Amino acid sequence: MSRWSRTLRPSVTDLGGYRPGVSGDEIKKRFGLRHVTRLNWNENLFGPLPGVLEETADALDLAWTYPEDSYDEFRTAAAGWIGADPAQVIPGHGIQALTIAVVSAFIEPGDAVVIPSPTYGLYAQVCRGAGAVVHRVQSGPALAIDLEAVLAMARHANAKLAWICDPNNPTGLRIDPALWSAFVEGLPAGCVAVVDEAYVDYVDPSERVDRLADIAQEAPVIVLRTFSKIFGLAGLRLGYAIVHESLAPHVNAVHEPFNVNRAALAAGLASLKRVQLLPERRDQVHCAREALVAPLESTGMKALPSDANFVLIELGIDDQAVFDALAEQGLIVRPGSELGLPGYVRVTTGAEDLMHTVGTRIAEVAEAALLRCRQ
Ligand SMILES: Cc1ncc(COP(=O)(O)O)c(C=O)c1O
Repeated sequence: MSRWSRTLRPSVTDLGGYRPGVSGDEIKKRFGLRHVTRLNWNENLFGPLPGVLEETADALDLAWTYPEDSYDEFRTAAAGWIGADPAQVIPGHGIQALTIAVVSAFIEPGDAVVIPSPTYGLYAQVCRGAGAVVHRVQSGPALAIDLEAVLAMARHANAKLAWICDPNNPTGLRIDPALWSAFVEGLPAGCVAVVDEAYVDYVDPSERVDRLADIAQEAPVIVLRTFSKIFGLAGLRLGYAIVHESLAPHVNAVHEPFNVNRAALAAGLASLKRVQLLPERRDQVHCAREALVAPLESTGMKALPSDANFVLIELGIDDQAVFDALAEQGLIVRPGSELGLPGYVRVTTGAEDLMHTVGTRIAEVAEAALLRCRQ
């Protein structure tokens, strides 16, 4: 019982903080290492686009001013790039902040929400903190989000929000565009689909679900995007929501004013001037995924077909053993047991030679484990 229990909201008292997995410093201490490579947080190991940091530094002269002008400039540039109206774009310091803003706008204690499993953990954390009743919907054996089951649960629970991550973290799988319209049409009255598209920039534009069209047709859809992934700006914290213009004032009513700082906005603007480099980035990550998976082919392990900057691998052996074997060499991957997927690891992609090393190391650990079993 906390000394704050009488005054805190009951939903917060026993919630505990969001746990993103082990930090680089913890692994350095645990294994006495000077350097580690973080492949557990899906950061972009290729960094920001060339020239972005230089332009960002120039914006710091105005650090003493509130970023009103650049907030509008960023909103206009982002809207121009995605083909929306600036009034539909809500900048935020990352999808994480926007998740909190959306939940604050929609959820009151006791409201129901539906969240597939496995998926990104923050939706459940924030919804629980707001006092929502969280209904989880398990994915099938192939780990794809079961949209029909999400709909059934949304109807059954009279849910206000249904969270969809596409491509999904931790699987890397994306929603089949052919199934999406039936899902949106089947949403019960009063239920909004919040779609986290953190990794959508890794999907070829011709293969994406067109959710801007949903929003234009006034379907109950909210899209969340970020500059943390393909644009490599996770440390500056920048994302944006795309909503119908009639919803934006309500989200803005609870969203922190000017909640993106000048440096992040400048970096976002500079990145948007360089979007012609994105196809190259997609190719780079595609090759990285292949380099990671190639050494696993002879082992019988299965990598899920990913459309993101990470790969989920079904090991067939204890994921903690693989985590430890890589961590002692300074390579931090995400053990599946932290994600509700024991026997899997999730590996963030980086340079091809690094990926080859990681894939080879995973294969070696698996072979050693198999040998031990046979002895
Ligand atoms: C699915 C998903 N959404 C959102 C985020 C965080 O995004 P942001 O950095 O914009 O807060 C992550 C980070 O790993 C993620 O995997």
